[in-house]
Amino acid sequence: MKVARTGESTAQLMNPDAGIWARSERRLFHMVPTPLNGNPAIKAISPFLEKSTDHGSIRELSVAGAHNGDFLALRLSWPSGKHDAIVDLDQFVDGAAVMFPLTPNASAVTMGSKGDPVNAWYWKANLHGVAFEVLAEGYGTSVRQRGEGKSQVKSAAVHKQGRWNVILSRPMDIGSRRARFAPGQAARMAFCLWDGGNRERAGRKSFSGDFVDVILEA
Ligand code: HEM
Repeated sequence: MKVARTGESTAQLMNPDAGIWARSERRLFHMVPTPLNGNPAIKAISPFLEKSTDHGSIRELSVAGAHNGDFLALRLSWPSGKHDAIVDLDQFVDGAAVMFPLTPNASAVTMGSKGDPVNAWYWKANLHGVAFEVLAEGYGTSVRQRGEGKSQVKSAAVHKQGRWNVILSRPMDIGSRRARFAPGQAARMAFCLWDGGNRERAGRKSFSGDFVDVILEA
């Protein structure tokens, strides 16, 4: 997948309907349910979760990327109802996340592991304009960073014609212990989607498989 360089402003990149996105190359990901059932590592953190078999309802995701030398923005689009409010205990909102390895050995399938952490940008449909910065070293270890100085991840979302269209963006380099990006360099990414209408949250979701290579245009 290629992330194009653009002269557009960060404000333009944050607009899911901006012309830049209509012109951008998109990659279609086939999404699969996370391997929970019969997974001993999941059973170790939640015997309840390990019994899950009806999760992962969303099966496709379209991704486009662009950077302007300062900000990296990803536009995620997928077919989905609109679940953006929690009005009852058993209700959940739609969500999406992109994950990056922080070491060459880190795996998306295990959400990293001890000493091989991963960093994710996490949008939830009831969040407006912001997103969580998440760090994890395996299942059950994810920590959300949010708020001033903790998460510089921005989001913008439009639901129309039966699809969510979500922008996730962050300055390309905010220092160590977070994914760093530079023009002309390779990066690796993986994605997951939560269908709030199917009671999906935490491990109950669909994902794109292990990390894929991405090139940021110089
Ligand atoms: C590309 C792949 C993936 C991404 C982007 C991703 C992202 C995330 C994020 C952002 C959270 C925190 C949710 C929250 O704070 O509510 C989370 C939690 C979780 N994920 Fe994943 N995940 C991925 C793959 C997987 C896979 C393959 C599994 C299981 C086989 C899994 C199991 C879990 C579990 C059990 C939790 C809840 C416990 C925890 O918060 O650590 N994830 N994931």
